[in-house]
Amino acid sequence: MPACFGALRLDSPVWMAPMVGYNEAVTRRLCRRFGAATSITEMLKPEQLLKNPRSLRTVLQTLPDEGIRGAQIACADVAEAEAAAAWVGEAGFDYIELNFGCPLPKERRRRRGAALLADPEQIEALVAAVVHMLPCPVAVKVRSGPGEGRETIAEVARAVQQGGAAALCVHGRAADQPYDSPSRLAPIARAREAAPGLLLLGNGDIEEPSDAQRMVAETGCDGVVIGRGMVGNPWLLARVRAVLGGAPDPGAPTPQQIFDQLLDHAGELVELLGPRKGLGYARRYGHFYFAGFPEITLYRARVARLGPTLADFAAGLRPLVDSLRRREVHVRLRAFEAAWRGPTLPAHDRRV
Ligand SMILES: Cc1cc2nc3c(=O)[nH]c(=O)nc-3n(C[C@H](O)[C@H](O)[C@H](O)COP(=O)(O)O)c2cc1C
Repeated sequence: MPACFGALRLDSPVWMAPMVGYNEAVTRRLCRRFGAATSITEMLKPEQLLKNPRSLRTVLQTLPDEGIRGAQIACADVAEAEAAAAWVGEAGFDYIELNFGCPLPKERRRRRGAALLADPEQIEALVAAVVHMLPCPVAVKVRSGPGEGRETIAEVARAVQQGGAAALCVHGRAADQPYDSPSRLAPIARAREAAPGLLLLGNGDIEEPSDAQRMVAETGCDGVVIGRGMVGNPWLLARVRAVLGGAPDPGAPTPQQIFDQLLDHAGELVELLGPRKGLGYARRYGHFYFAGFPEITLYRARVARLGPTLADFAAGLRPLVDSLRRREVHVRLRAFEAAWRGPTLPAHDRRV
């Protein structure tokens, strides 16, 4: 299973996705603990790095045990790419990732992000410039095309390979495709065909281990990148890593594990960022830890009224885990009863 990414050896086929607002050091380290191959920053802009690095203090803080560390950079031209690459080299990252997929109009107007998907030649020039400057491996992240029905993934994948990058991540949506339409596997397969020499990573809509298995089977990609699915659910990284390695799925966490993990996450955020900012982040993450459970309503109601300390946070959320646990016991009982007595429970037991 170990794959090579330039001179780096990876011990997992699962990568965490760069996501603005969700990739500070504590969460990067958490993802690594749960089996992510590398840790990556959110997209950094050259003007912020060079003129106002203080604005990126939270994003750029690092912690031991983050593993292989990458910085994701947006750039429009060779001068910008070289300046950002020089910064990445000095900052001691283990790899750089160039973003040619950001769909935000503000970035596209500056001819950055997904705007470059219409210009594979420029992509090749930017990749080559960075490859020549840095001894570390270069990755590239793209969408399937610049939009308006145009798909350029095959040309882009060839340009990325030709420029000398080591890895390519393909998010299976075009730049103008919203999140409520499904990410497609076909563009990832086309990238595989066009650039067989790259370490190819597929990305988009992985919510369950079976989604990752299907992506690998249908596209031939070497690994997967998970974004929204792992926010508040780092177990997904471990589960996907297991099944892609041919091991059994370790399964979803119990309510107690979810609650304990949220508290650990909150504690580490407070340690790194201080109580105010740390708990602000923890409250936001809590929505994701409890997403999909009926208790999310209770969480929303309570979270605004939690006190200012970590102890308040833990005490305020205790009723949620009690409720989750009661429901889990009941669900197990129902399954047990169904297995032994048939599908229905006596009426007096149908309470939850
Ligand atoms: C809130 C948010 C922030 C994101 N920020 C970035 C970013 O900084 N750089 C990037 O390349 N992609 C970014 N993305 C895109 C994700 O990396 C990923 O490609 C996309 O969410 C699809 O994967 P998923 O279905 O696993 O979430 C962001 C997505 C979201 C939802």
